[in-house]
Amino acid sequence: PHLDEILNLHDFEAIAKQVMTDKAWAYYSSAADDEITNRENHAAYHRIWFRPQVLVDVTKVDFSTKLLGHKSSMPIYITATALGKLGHPDGELNLTRAATKHGVIQMIPTLASCSFDEIVDAAQPDQVQFLQLYVNKDRSITKNIVQHAEERGIKGLFITVDAPQLGRREKDMRMKFTDDDPSAVKDTGSGGIDRSQGAARAISSFIDPGLKWDDLEWFKSITKMPLILKGIQRWEDALRAYDLGLAGVVLSNHGGRQLDFARSGIEVLVEVVTNFKAKRGISFPNEKFQLFVDGGVRRATDVLKAIALGATAVGIGRPFLYAFSSYGQEGVEKALTILRDELEMNMRLLGAQTLKDVGPDLVDTSNISAH
Ligand code: FNR
Repeated sequence: PHLDEILNLHDFEAIAKQVMTDKAWAYYSSAADDEITNRENHAAYHRIWFRPQVLVDVTKVDFSTKLLGHKSSMPIYITATALGKLGHPDGELNLTRAATKHGVIQMIPTLASCSFDEIVDAAQPDQVQFLQLYVNKDRSITKNIVQHAEERGIKGLFITVDAPQLGRREKDMRMKFTDDDPSAVKDTGSGGIDRSQGAARAISSFIDPGLKWDDLEWFKSITKMPLILKGIQRWEDALRAYDLGLAGVVLSNHGGRQLDFARSGIEVLVEVVTNFKAKRGISFPNEKFQLFVDGGVRRATDVLKAIALGATAVGIGRPFLYAFSSYGQEGVEKALTILRDELEMNMRLLGAQTLKDVGPDLVDTSNISAH
């Protein structure tokens, strides 16, 4: 179908399923075990309802914001997803180019199909990019990646902490990852990879399962970039990150691809905010320590629920992969346009002029934990 016929982010998924190779579809769409968490990532948003206020002048609405001090036209960023070339020959560059057109921030994955420098080179001079980091068992490799990223102007380091071992994504495991694969990853310094069990396992064997809290001091010593932990799933760990002086956390279960029966990021957000208030007297959103959420965000209403509950911004993954796999860069631009239009409409319908007006009074979370 023509891009004009695409009305929402779900439409990209339906089209991608038809046009993508089996291997790419399996890698992008799969989630861990019985995919219960993957479904829950959507279901959790369905348990939150709105309490809109009326008779507010919403002629003009403004949903621009700042992530780690950097401007974004929307409270949305493009999260890190590996192996962009499985879906499209330009891979991650589709995301880089669409991001700048819409003034949103891209998080570059460690396991990109394009090289890190290619992705940074494709950005405009003033374009802000973050880096997602998988920590190598060989710390000298990690140190090089981090310091090179800082030199190239990366504005935030998101250390993935929910993947000491890759989850079982059985749809993906049934596919063999071959040497001639166009997505073959560069720059990972992985060495000795096992290609017999799908894309995910083939590329991830270098990740250090020994990574621990004490290692974070070392990260602070090798970089001045803000450090954020990606994949926090309980308030205790969020508080620990705060007490260590980190810049924030991403409440995320990796798109349901790691521990099945992990809770959704949006549900964890509620307990994080409650416990920070009770134990440290801090409220959100907060410039010094920012909360991000990802997993299952498909509509501006999802985005606004997370903002209302204290998130600074939300990450979106699969929809952009499906968009570029079907339509290249234009698809990603269309996805961002859809989100922008939905945000504008739903801000008006909620009676909110700016994101400062999108607070907890606008949502009813009384059924959030109704598992
Ligand atoms: C991911 N995600 C991910 N996260 C990460 O820290 N490093 C990575 O390399 C990847 N790779 C990756 C590949 C693919 C195909 C997917 C779908 C996801 C997780 C990602 O950053 C994010 O947490 C989820 O994608 C968010 O969920 P949605 O928006 O895809 O539902």
